[in-house]
This record gives sequence, C-alpha cells and structure tokens, in this order.
Amino acid sequence: GTSPKSKEQWTTYPIQKLKTMQDLSREFNPLLAKKEHTILIDMEWIRRGVIVPHQGTHVWDSHHVKLPHLYSHAPPSRWEVTRHALHRLTKGSNSIGDVQTAIMSYNSRNKDNWTFEALYYYVQRLPRMENNLHLLIPKMAKLALDLPELIQKPIPLLRQQQNQGITMSQQQISCLLANAFFCTFPHRNDTKPNSEYANYPTINFSRCYTDHITLKLYMRRYVSKPEGLVTFERISIPTSQLPQWKTQKVPLTNLHISPEGSIEEEGTGMLQVDFASKYIGGGVLGSKLFQEEILFLMSPELIVARLFTEKLADNECLKITGPQMYSFTSGYSKSFLWAGPYYDRTKRDNWKRRYRQIVAIDALDFKNPKEQYTEDNIKRELNKAFVGFHGDVKTAIATGNWGCGAFKGDPKLKALIQLMAAAVNERDMAYFSFGNKELAKEIQSMHEILTINKVTVDKLYNWLKEFSRHNAREHHLPKDLYGFISEKIGHMASLL
Ligand code: AR6
Repeated sequence: GTSPKSKEQWTTYPIQKLKTMQDLSREFNPLLAKKEHTILIDMEWIRRGVIVPHQGTHVWDSHHVKLPHLYSHAPPSRWEVTRHALHRLTKGSNSIGDVQTAIMSYNSRNKDNWTFEALYYYVQRLPRMENNLHLLIPKMAKLALDLPELIQKPIPLLRQQQNQGITMSQQQISCLLANAFFCTFPHRNDTKPNSEYANYPTINFSRCYTDHITLKLYMRRYVSKPEGLVTFERISIPTSQLPQWKTQKVPLTNLHISPEGSIEEEGTGMLQVDFASKYIGGGVLGSKLFQEEILFLMSPELIVARLFTEKLADNECLKITGPQMYSFTSGYSKSFLWAGPYYDRTKRDNWKRRYRQIVAIDALDFKNPKEQYTEDNIKRELNKAFVGFHGDVKTAIATGNWGCGAFKGDPKLKALIQLMAAAVNERDMAYFSFGNKELAKEIQSMHEILTINKVTVDKLYNWLKEFSRHNAREHHLPKDLYGFISEKIGHMASLL
C-alpha cells in the first residue's frame, strides 16, 4: 500500500536472534551408517576428509534407481549406443544438431514428441561470451559417462511411508544430472498413469529443451566444481504419531515477520520451506516458475531428488541438507530473470555439507478456495507442516505464503497453521510475506494478541474448528478469520 500508515515500523522479533544451523552445529547428528541411510561415498575416507565413491556392486531391481548402464538388451545394448553417442560429444565442437542426434540415437521411440527449441534458442540468443555451451557439452558428456565408476552403490528409491535417506557427493549429483540432461535414464520417459514410474517426477530433461531459462541456469552449475556432500531424507510420520491438535497446550513461539527478504537468502541456515508439489520439484523441468521451481534453479542439486523420490503422501516430507546455491535470480513467474552467478560462501559441517537445509512440504491445491476452511483440510495442512517442522535440531523455520499462490490458499489461515505446527515442534519462525506489508502487519498483530493472551495451540485449534463450522453455514458472507479470533480472545479476556 502507499498510505503513510504502511510506512510505520512494527516491532517484530529480531531475525538475528533466530537459531541457524551454525548456531546449533554441535547438535547435528554425525552421519552414522544406519540401515535407513545409504551413503554413496566411502565412510572411512570421508573421516579423513577425502571424498571417494563407495565401492560396490550395481543392482537392477524395483527397489533401486535403474541406472542406464545396467539396462541390458539384445546387442547392441542401449548403453553401448549411449556410450558411443556421448563419446562423440566429448570430442568437442558440437552443434546443437549433434546433441540432438546423440540423444535421439538411444531415445528413438520419442523422436516424434521431443523438440530441442530451447537448446537452439540458447545458442542463438546469448552473447558469445556467455554462450559456453560448446565448452560445456563435451565436459557434461564426459561426466555422464563416468556414471558406472562414480556411483557403485545402488541408490534406493525413497518410497512412500518409508524413512530413508541418501547422502551423495556433489560430484555424484552432477554426474546423475548430466545423465538426466542427456536423457539416459531408462524407463523414465513413459508418463502414462499406470507406468512403472507414474508416481515419480520426471527426471530426463527432454521437456526442458523447450525452456531456455531453465537450461541456462542449469548450465551454470558446471562452472564450479564443488566438493561436498548433500543428504536427501524422506520423513514419514505414522498417523498414530501425529499430534492430537485439540490437546496441545503449548504457547506460540517467536515470530520475525517482514515484507522484505526471501526464504532463500535471509533464511539461509534456518529450515527453509520449499512450497512444494507432491512431485518434488514441480514444474522445474517444464515451464512453470513459482517459488519451488525458482529454488530448484538456484540450487540445481535439488533436481536430483526427482530421480528417487516417490510422490509425497499427506504425512510425509523431503528434507535436503547441504545443497549449494549457484545463481541469483530476480522477479517471479513471468518476470523471472537469471541475475548472475552466486558464489556460495556458506560454511560446511563436518560432513562437508553446506549449512543449508530445505524442507519440501506440499500444501493442498484448492481449486475452490472455500474448501480450505473445512476441518479435514485444516487438519491435513497442520499435519503436513508438523511433519516438515519435526526434528531434534530446533533451528528456526524460514517460510512465507506457503500454499497461497498457485495453490490458492488464504495466507492468514496458512500463517496460523504454520505457527501452530512450529509451536508444537518448539521452533521459532521467520516469515517473509513477499512484499505484502498489509499482510505482514496483520499476521504480526494477530501473533501479538495471541501471545499476550497466552493462547495455546489447542485453543486456537478449537477456534479454527468453530470458524470452519461457521463458514460452512454462512454461504454468502465468509467472516474474516482474524476478526473472528479477535472476538474469541475478547470474550476469553472478559471471562478472566
Ligand atoms: N520467498 C518468500 N515468499 C515467496 C517466494 C520467496 N522466494 N516466492 C514466492 N513467494 P507458490 P504454492 C510467495 O505459488 O501456492 C509450484 O509449481 C508469493 O506470495 O510458489 O504453494 C510447486 O511445484 C507466492 O504467491 O506456492 C507447486 O506445484 C506465494 O509465496 C505449486 O507451485 C506462494 O508461492 C505450489 O504453489
């Protein structure tokens, strides 16, 4: 708003006081070789500070990622064809036509529906200096071909209702992404509803060739050679262990709220919320550009999660520890622009993971926004946020209008839901309202009234339930949620 009132400062909890991973670095669990945690690098070597791939035996089965070099067929095998095609690309001076020919040689089944417009666009439109594709392609082809040596331990699929983690090196991730770029992953091109990987996001970059921005950002990834690890963890909390919301007598935690700043930068070191799709990464390999996609373009290592993360169920999230940032971006959706390389100076933990942690939680997609006030839907979102915010290390949560853009949620309701889930998990919160000062002010004063009056989560939950019943009755005039709660507090105060 432009009214003088909106220039007013409000008092919000100082961001400097919020706990980050570095503040709590001692509490970070050592990477133990647990059964549910697959480490793709050698544990003995990493203790001496050296990253080498874990030696092992490959497998081809339905529990693990199917790697392209294990795909056997009557000779010549698909990998033979792939190797031959990629090997030619390593020789240098390739045209886009050469890249296209190479990829199609082992994907001939898709010759009618894959286009390479973005690749052509990339080459034509970028200034010569920036156009490093001719240098990158040979390097990427070489990296893709290193797959059998770089990854020897089978990569488990992170399936629904399993608590499973994978740790791998940034080099292993770039190798897997190079393979995705050249569309080498077998069984992953069929997107029909009952195909083998219908419950998984797409990973081969075939669709990405129609989006030059994605491509450009992705390429940037190859400029630096980072040497660290990244952990991907699927967390499922059985329904029986989810909180009974109506009995949670806990007060709200601290809230820092601001219309300025973003989750990705100001939130570094906190638990940064990815406004996710249940298919992790959402449209990052397509052409959508919302918060999640932009996040994945800033930190392309996140994209590899699409290779092994089955679609998230209501009681699940995916947590990623240690990803690096490679790009600055500006704008949003249609105004989105790549704004330059980002030199990540975030410190690393003992396991050489950057002090950066992201949690992917998918809100409900409300075709009809009125649906969000039903008791079931409120509970679903509370549980989803609870699962995301759960954990032993209580860093603050960096979030914002989760579920309130593409998914049409009401930020006032979602802010309360997130605050309640944070409270039960005893974590503070930094909320970035994405330029919306009015909203920031409203949430801030709601939070203030609730804390001054010591309103606990159980009470708030009951009021939300009442509001939901009320809302179901009043078809025409939906009451304002914060007005409704303020009345309740007034009533409560008058009883004291
Ligand atoms: N920091 C803080 N707030 C932000 C940021 C940011 N970097 N970016 C956007 N917002 P949206 P959803 C605010 O629509 O509704 C994707 O395709 C801004 O006010 O990304 O949960 C996923 O893959 C914006 O309107 O999240 C899912 O399919 C609001 O946050 C789907 O979108 C919501 O951002 C999720 O949609």
